[in-house]
Amino acid sequence: MAKKKSILDLMRMKKEGEQVAWITAYDFPTASFAEQAGMDMILVGDSLGMVVLGYKGTIPVTMEDCISHCQAVRRGAPNTWIIGDMPFGSYQVNDQQAVENAVRFLKEADVDCIKLEGGERVKSRIRAITDAGIPVMGHIGLTPQSSGQLGGFKAQGRHVNSARALIKDALEVQEAGAFSLLVEAVPPEVTAFIAKKLDIPVYSIGAGACDGQLLISGDMLGKFQAFTPKFVKKYANVAEIEVNAFKEYINEVKNGQFPTDDHVYHVLESMDEFEKLFKEFE
Ligand code: KIV
Repeated sequence: MAKKKSILDLMRMKKEGEQVAWITAYDFPTASFAEQAGMDMILVGDSLGMVVLGYKGTIPVTMEDCISHCQAVRRGAPNTWIIGDMPFGSYQVNDQQAVENAVRFLKEADVDCIKLEGGERVKSRIRAITDAGIPVMGHIGLTPQSSGQLGGFKAQGRHVNSARALIKDALEVQEAGAFSLLVEAVPPEVTAFIAKKLDIPVYSIGAGACDGQLLISGDMLGKFQAFTPKFVKKYANVAEIEVNAFKEYINEVKNGQFPTDDHVYHVLESMDEFEKLFKEFE
C-alpha cells in the first residue's frame, strides 16, 4: 500500500514535474476504490450537494453534510491525503468563523487540509486558518459557490483583464499562506503561467496542464446525469451499468428467476421437525 502523501511530497512532486492525480469522493466505497487504485489525494467537495444529495447547486450544503461525508471517506481511505471542502456559509462571516469550522474538519473528520473558494477577498481567512496550523488549499477561477456572481457555471480568465485578476488572486492566495491552489475552468495558457509563477503546487479542474488534475468522480464514472462539463472525460458509464443491473433484477424477481437455491439458507434440522413446527401454528 502506498504511503500517505504529505505537503512535502506534494512540493517535491511539483519540483520534479510529477503529476498529482486526484478525484472527489463522498462515500466509503468510492474512497476505498480510489485508495486501492493509488489516487494521490481525495477531495470531499461540496459538489456532494449536486452529485450525491440531488440539490441544484452547492449552496444548501451544510457543515454537518460535509463532516459526515468526510468521515465516511476517511474510513474508506485511511492512507490518502483528504481535503475537506468548506461549504458556503462556513467561512463567509469572519476569520473566527472560518477557523472554527476548519478546526471541526480536522477534529471531527480527520481530514488533512481544507479548501475554500476565492482569491484576494478570502486572503484574511486563508491567513487565519493557516495561522491556526491547518493547511489550506485555495480555489480560483470558476468558483461554484459564487457562480451567481459569475453569471453561471462559466469558464473564467478568457480575456486579458479577467486573466490579470486571476493571476493577482493566485499570487494573493500564495502570499496568504495556502500550500496549494486549485484552478477551475480557466484557459490552459493562463493556468500554465500561474503554475510557473507560483512556488506552491497548482492543480487543475478543467484548466489544462499544470501540477496535477482533479475530476469529479460522479462525472468521470458517468454517474452524474444532470450535465457534463466540456472538460470531463468519462472513464466509465456506471449509470448505464446500474440501471441495466436494476432492470435485470426486477425482471428476474417478477419471473421467479431470483432467488435460486444458491441464494438461500436451508434449514439445519430434518424437514419432519419443521413440519411439526408448522403444524403447531395451524
Ligand atoms: O466541490 C467540489 O467538488 C469542488 C470542485 C468543483 C473543484 O470544489
